[in-house]
Amino acid sequence: MNRKIVAGNWKMNTLLESAIRLAGDVDSLLAERNPGDVTVILIPPFPFIHNVADVIDRTKIKVGAQNCASEAEGAYTGEVSAAMIESTGAEYVIIGHSERRQYFGENDEILSKKLKLVLENDLIPIFCIGEKLEEREAGKQFEVVENQLKNTILSLNKDDVKKLVIAYEPVWAIGTGKTATPEQAQEIHAHIRKLLGNKFGTDIANQIPVLYGGSVKPGNAKELFAQPDIDGGLIGGASLKANDFVDIINSF
Ligand code: 13P
Repeated sequence: MNRKIVAGNWKMNTLLESAIRLAGDVDSLLAERNPGDVTVILIPPFPFIHNVADVIDRTKIKVGAQNCASEAEGAYTGEVSAAMIESTGAEYVIIGHSERRQYFGENDEILSKKLKLVLENDLIPIFCIGEKLEEREAGKQFEVVENQLKNTILSLNKDDVKKLVIAYEPVWAIGTGKTATPEQAQEIHAHIRKLLGNKFGTDIANQIPVLYGGSVKPGNAKELFAQPDIDGGLIGGASLKANDFVDIINSF
């Protein structure tokens, strides 16, 4: 897998028309300003995935979903399965975003079921981890990240772990305008890679993209992406502006 990735998580924003427009704008800006060897992923709300996939050049831009159900199919009103997502043209699924953990009570058990279904459906999980403000203030960030990986990613087998992306998103930096400094992010990314290496070996650890998320903007992306263990970004707010998003993609 290409380790350089920039993904735009649109969260619960846009309507059908604005989603199509935003995807089209990103597509044409990227055609003008070829970013080279970067995998670009748009992650719109569920109802717009197929429309977004339709208006972009999918050899250059990939599409993902923000979540999926923890069950394969059946009587789960309102849920969206991994197989459904796969059938729309999406190739990636965010699993364990802090907003899902915080507002929808998603724990390791649920996230492991989701991971399994995503992998079974040949989709690529973007697995999110990250500490809260009080945990960082207590100096527990390394421990928190390790615990979030222990019963999920670190319990997978070698074949499966090679097929995923990890995103480090410190909760205190999400949507707050407060970014982790490149040094703060780098030391956690290095820690994540060390944990992966201890479990799966250095070769595999070096293949897994580890993205940073949390108030990434055109003004700070370059410094963050220059860190040896930061492979790209998972972008929230700035991914809703085509120009900013493409500037971030061009920050490598
Ligand atoms: P912001 O870029 O808006 O801080 O959001 C980050 C994020 O949560 C991406 O998943």
